[in-house]
Amino acid sequence: MTQPSASALPGSPQLARRGSELWLEGCRLSDLAKVHGTPLFVYSKAAMRSALAAYQRGFAGRQSTIHYAMKANSSLAVLQVFASAGCGFDIVSGGELTRALTAGAEPGKIIFSGVGKTRAEMRQALQAGIGCFNVESEPELEVLSEVAQSMGLRAPVSIRVNPNVDAKTHPYISTGLKGNKFGVAHERTLAAYRRAASLPGLKVVGIDCHIGSQITETGPYLDAMDRVLELVEAIEAQVTRLAHIDFGGGLGINYKGDTPPEADALWQQLLAKLDARGFGDRHLMVEPGRSLVGNAGLCITEVQYLKPGEQKNFCIVDAAMNDLPRPAMYEAFHAIVPLTEREGADTTVYDVVGPVCESGDWLGRDRALAVQPGDLMAVLSAGAYCMSMASNYNTRGRPAEVLVDGEQAHLIRERETVEDQMRGERLVG
Ligand code: LLP
Repeated sequence: MTQPSASALPGSPQLARRGSELWLEGCRLSDLAKVHGTPLFVYSKAAMRSALAAYQRGFAGRQSTIHYAMKANSSLAVLQVFASAGCGFDIVSGGELTRALTAGAEPGKIIFSGVGKTRAEMRQALQAGIGCFNVESEPELEVLSEVAQSMGLRAPVSIRVNPNVDAKTHPYISTGLKGNKFGVAHERTLAAYRRAASLPGLKVVGIDCHIGSQITETGPYLDAMDRVLELVEAIEAQVTRLAHIDFGGGLGINYKGDTPPEADALWQQLLAKLDARGFGDRHLMVEPGRSLVGNAGLCITEVQYLKPGEQKNFCIVDAAMNDLPRPAMYEAFHAIVPLTEREGADTTVYDVVGPVCESGDWLGRDRALAVQPGDLMAVLSAGAYCMSMASNYNTRGRPAEVLVDGEQAHLIRERETVEDQMRGERLVG
């Protein structure tokens, strides 16, 4: 049995118990479920702002841009929170570009990552005037130059280098090792920069690295920074000056007692390295996703049935792997807590599962819960990589979303209907 104590709820202090009831900022979560139904994603604006503030403190006095990695949660009103706070965006598709612009992003503060950018996406981004393409391979340099040249433009580029550092995270979300598909190998970097500098449709502006996601240790960052700075020195000595350094590796969040460094404390150490090697004056860029939104959100779900079994007891809820894919995909842990505590009631150990027809459709295993059918529970730490990875499997409509701001609760996405899902489909004959 693993449940965080009330004082250590991931998402606190915006998420807190008042008496037996769970509140997010000034809103009682059970009231939101009554109005909007379940499953329901709820996000705290103050929690996003406070996560962002840790990065802003870390970069105080420096030339820097925080690019929110919108793949973590690309809902328009979430993007709007970051755009209005002055953030740029890290995008990975033409669709994300359209979303970012719709939410009010400044094109010059958009960077475009990803190993498989199409010519059409490159054209769309060049037309919009984005700030930088993070190029992930040598062939991509050639294609981007060709596309930009055909438009009479020079594409601003940085090359994503692969520092071959183990981020010590889940293999599916580790991106900086030699065996990964991301970035240009350390030993090919100089040749790639030489080529980029010689291509007529490109303008070299920076360097970029990203070693993985949900990183909870400082060591891999420090190693990666050393490797990147070695390259910066060599590139500047032999090819061209770099105006910016985009350094990443997604900072982890507390899902289950995890204790990642705070963004400001981490950057204090990284900036010391930059300063020591004389690169402290470069424009610094980061592209955090999860650490800005992960613990700002949760998903409310209703208990449908309790099903005792010989080997396992099941608590069947109305949210499922299509809404919250991380447990099924990565065996990820999300804390699950009742919205209203049944004080003094005995707990039973359950696997919390959804209604989807797959054994992999579980949200939590071996959880001690005192619940009855009809009770509401919150799946915590669900602000990142939940709604943005949600699907329509089993023809389930994706949940509604609410953004809480003090005592105000704004519906920011309507629940998806079956008509929404069938739009664009055709019967034959
Ligand atoms: N920049 C690049 C180039 C990335 O590949 C990623 C994440 C980020 C930024 C944002 O990283 P973050 O700050 O969110 O850690 N679906 C997985 C996570 C996949 C992350 C992929 N890349 C999960 O649910 O854990």
